[in-house]
Amino acid sequence: MSEFQRVAGCGELADPGKMLVEVDGEMVALFHVGGEYFALDDVCTHDGGPLADGELADHTIACPRHGAKFDIRTGAALTMPAVRATRSHRVKIEDGGVWVALGGDDQPAEAGGAAAGGLSEDHVREMLKEVKDPELFVNVVDLGLIYGVTLEPAEGGKQQVSIDMTMTSPACPAGPQLIGDAKRVVGGHPDVAGVEVRIVMDPPWSPDRMTDDARDQLGIF
Ligand code: FES
Repeated sequence: MSEFQRVAGCGELADPGKMLVEVDGEMVALFHVGGEYFALDDVCTHDGGPLADGELADHTIACPRHGAKFDIRTGAALTMPAVRATRSHRVKIEDGGVWVALGGDDQPAEAGGAAAGGLSEDHVREMLKEVKDPELFVNVVDLGLIYGVTLEPAEGGKQQVSIDMTMTSPACPAGPQLIGDAKRVVGGHPDVAGVEVRIVMDPPWSPDRMTDDARDQLGIF
């Protein structure tokens, strides 16, 4: 765990206020709300958006890129399209300054439910990148179709995987194929006991859920 570093003077940051600071070479979003300071990675877990540039409302910061909200006290992801917590850091006030040390004493569990075993939500999302929309030729993760992944322990040390997936439209003709491909790709992993794919239409998909990679592939700028 890193040492505390002085990042700002008390009074340098309005209340409420936010600023970007650097700690051990990492960019950290520092918040001042209700007389208290909080620090998070300046990284949205959806697609790397800069949280310090977002809109601060009470104890919530909204990612400026696609609007995911995070609790500045814990880093927990509160709304889609982010499903995983961002890292929170330790903050102390000393000698008239604000000090930050990377890593918290009590990091929140990942909102997306990382499993205790070797398999994690991130692994499942990586696997799902093999599933491509047959018309757009872009994978379902970069299209922003995956709303959630949860893992539950199953027999034999394996994991039961549940995937919340949306479609670009309610009548998307590729739906059955995407569901089948997702089950096949994830279900083929040796640590997976079974896969359930739930179709979720609320909130509805919109193009701003796509990652920059997807935009590049589709030629959207
Ligand atoms: S990068 Fe933050 S919501 Fe998409």
